[in-house]
Amino acid sequence: MPLFKKSNIKSENLPAHIAIIMDGNGRWAKKRGLSRNAGHQEGARTIRKIVESAYNIGIKYITLFAFSSENWSRPKEEVDELMRLCLDYLKNAEKETSDKDIRVRVIGNREGLSLEIREQIQKIEKRTENKKKMTMVIALNYGGRQDILQAASKLADDVAKGILKQEEITEEEFAKRLYTYDIPDPDLLIRTSGELRISNFLIWQCSYTEFYFSNVLWPDIKEKHLKEAIADYQKRSRRFGGL
Ligand code: FPP
Repeated sequence: MPLFKKSNIKSENLPAHIAIIMDGNGRWAKKRGLSRNAGHQEGARTIRKIVESAYNIGIKYITLFAFSSENWSRPKEEVDELMRLCLDYLKNAEKETSDKDIRVRVIGNREGLSLEIREQIQKIEKRTENKKKMTMVIALNYGGRQDILQAASKLADDVAKGILKQEEITEEEFAKRLYTYDIPDPDLLIRTSGELRISNFLIWQCSYTEFYFSNVLWPDIKEKHLKEAIADYQKRSRRFGGL
């Protein structure tokens, strides 16, 4: 069986889609006597490194929970910094991924985002739409319940317009109206910093996802931790409700 150098990951049975709840930026900063925003800045640097690692390993989809629909309740200064980092990331994403075959997609409610961010999302999605090797999905102003509600609303609208009959409502038809309509469900969900919750992330899509929790704070996450999570995933037996 081919093995990756210095790790016990098998090149077959890789999770096609890894979703990550990047938690612990604030605690990372506090431990160092830094501001929470400094923690988020370091967190953004970690995103760049981990996306590159996932790409090199051969992961097809990576979804990152960058800003939840609940994060607006944080102090304005922190929200502003998270938005600034997201904008900066989207602006640089094309340049940074130009030598790589990476498509960028953003999921979440765009109405709450600034015009500048919405324009940047459109630009990067358009410019990378034909990239194939990996899709990086950024969840921005995303909430799982909100995703389900907006899909239900689209479905009701389509039934009212006669595009779909009520008896034709299936899981598949529903999933087609989620923000993730063109993205397969995550195989592996990683949450860092020792918190054991899903926090309203991809709640429809994670029905059969394998969960991996790490005590390491997000800014400290390295490629070796990603590989540890993948190796753990590869030891599991997925039955999807069957035997
Ligand atoms: C949680 O740390 C992390 C977030 C609020 C989301 C992740 C955001 C980044 C990595 C910053 C940059 C984002 C992009 C897309 C460039 P926390 O503040 O909840 O940590 P704590 O629980 O230790 O306080």
